[in-house]
Amino acid sequence: MKNIQTITKDLVYVGVSDRRTALFENVYPIPRGVSYNSYVLLDEKTALLDTADATVGEQFFENVEAALAGRPLDYLIVNHMEPDHAALIAPLLLRYPQATVVCTAKAAQMMQQFLGARTSSSAPEIKTVKEGDTLSLGRHQLTFVMAPMVHWPEVMMTYDQTDKVLFSADAFGTFGALSGNIFADEVNFETEWLDDARRYFINIVGKYGQPVQTVLKKAATLDIQMICPLHGPVWRENIGWFVGKHDMWSRYEPEDKGVVIIYGSIYGHTESAALRLGTLLAQRGVKHIKAYDASRTHASELVAECFRASHVVLASSTYNNGIFTPMENLLADLKAHTWQKRTVALIENGSWAAQSGKLMRAELEQMKDITIIGETVSLKSAATAAQEEQLADLADAIANSCKL
Ligand code: FEO
Repeated sequence: MKNIQTITKDLVYVGVSDRRTALFENVYPIPRGVSYNSYVLLDEKTALLDTADATVGEQFFENVEAALAGRPLDYLIVNHMEPDHAALIAPLLLRYPQATVVCTAKAAQMMQQFLGARTSSSAPEIKTVKEGDTLSLGRHQLTFVMAPMVHWPEVMMTYDQTDKVLFSADAFGTFGALSGNIFADEVNFETEWLDDARRYFINIVGKYGQPVQTVLKKAATLDIQMICPLHGPVWRENIGWFVGKHDMWSRYEPEDKGVVIIYGSIYGHTESAALRLGTLLAQRGVKHIKAYDASRTHASELVAECFRASHVVLASSTYNNGIFTPMENLLADLKAHTWQKRTVALIENGSWAAQSGKLMRAELEQMKDITIIGETVSLKSAATAAQEEQLADLADAIANSCKL
């Protein structure tokens, strides 16, 4: 059945939540689901802002039909061509062949790449727009704001000057399905959503800090009363707090002064030493320590935690004369997401030829502004009493650094 919600008197939410997909982009676990947001603006002309993922097509079309209530669709505004929002363009245009597609030139090119001849029985009318171009729907005056690489090169945002609404594409989105409350101020966002918002941003857009900064500077010149993202709740209160989080994340600044311990351990000896370090840190007054087994926690969570905290301990066994695979993968992921500006301490283990410390250090040295503190604690199987002292020295170095 139709499931739409009125946002303002002429803006209707027609998005759909998905709790069936296990992996977003076929890589990120989404145990809380995800929403594919889409919006209908009703004016003298009608506009649909983005479509949705193919998996929710039946509900999506029912919603669009209900929102339009028999009216024709004049414009389909495509802010982003990634298939989680664009997969339904072709079937939409079969239903509404008179709609003009409004998008960037790059998006038009991608539409051809993704959809080829499937957009309608005849090629759709496409109006390409660039920075500052406008579109009048009647009362609503829309302005287009280019947002390349947030998160793909064709991305733009649409700003409704009339009601001061920013349709922000992937920006300000989050993992997590909606349950009826579509506004961020109707849910416990900071306690129940922020971790997923951070994981979403860091893993999806985190690589593109500079383009995000460029868009944030443009957004600062707009009077924004509401943000309508492509995933997660709509923002109408406390917008500055959430924008501030994105500013921090995209500048690669730590969100919390604190320690995250991540270990890759085959039989538990590296784990034992890493957790002992956690206790030694706690004894030195370090609070909110978080420890993770790299074999058990998805890399997307680990990457997000490494972005959140100021200090990270990496402890890894040697494996195949290299870094234990889950830790090796994490380091590759951190490098891919241009992780930087953090303080790191290392523990290695190797029962006959420890290599992981040297190799982890070499990976970290390729990243920007990573400070490695203390001596690498090198274990040969199980930690010895002497190594307890080395761990204590490392704890001193980390605890003192956390106080700076
Ligand atoms: Fe939600 Fe880049 O797509």
